[in-house]
Amino acid sequence: MKKQQWPVEDVRHWLEPGPVVLISSRWQDQDNIMTLGWHTILEFSPSLIGCMISAGNLSFERIRNSGECVINLPDAAMADTVAKIGNCSGTNTNKFETFSLTAETSERVSAPSIAECHANFECRLYDDAMVERYNFFIFEVVAARVKPKPEWPQTLHYTGDGVFRTDGALIERRALFTKVS
Ligand SMILES: Cc1cc2nc3c(=O)[nH]c(=O)nc-3n(C[C@H](O)[C@H](O)[C@H](O)COP(=O)(O)O)c2cc1C
Repeated sequence: MKKQQWPVEDVRHWLEPGPVVLISSRWQDQDNIMTLGWHTILEFSPSLIGCMISAGNLSFERIRNSGECVINLPDAAMADTVAKIGNCSGTNTNKFETFSLTAETSERVSAPSIAECHANFECRLYDDAMVERYNFFIFEVVAARVKPKPEWPQTLHYTGDGVFRTDGALIERRALFTKVS
């Protein structure tokens, strides 16, 4: 299904609930993917996301060097792939090939997007002030694309110890949101 543009200032719709994501990167023509559970919205406009990428991961140096990555949103059907990608290293595994994922050309960054994922958020490194001390990267989302259906894909949320939860029922309370949205 062809993805549609999504407003970058509204990526919180997908990321604020804290789903596990796949981070794709490219450095010196080498593509890689890692699984990431620790991320947070920092600002809507510019659209800023904070992520903790451990320095022990190959992705750490590649993303720091290239200053780019794509945050890809997998659905629950990809649980095995998400777990496996997070349990092997790009130093000895070509993860796109091994896990039969399609590296799609991104619009604004050279890092590839993962076609099979529900959404792709293309990012540029915005602030590296906390990278050295905390492995904490602050990215700006510069382009966002989302599959139009399903409207609410089931996402994965990691609890540690090899166990994921999926998201549950929608609870709508719009009438109570008089101060913030
Ligand atoms: C469910 C899950 C969540 C993870 N979350 C993070 C995370 O938030 N930050 C991190 O640095 N590594 C996280 N990892 C570990 C990396 O994905 C893993 O170390 C991976 O092998 C790194 O790949 P690379 O060396 O090819 O970059 C997670 C792994 C799994 C399975």
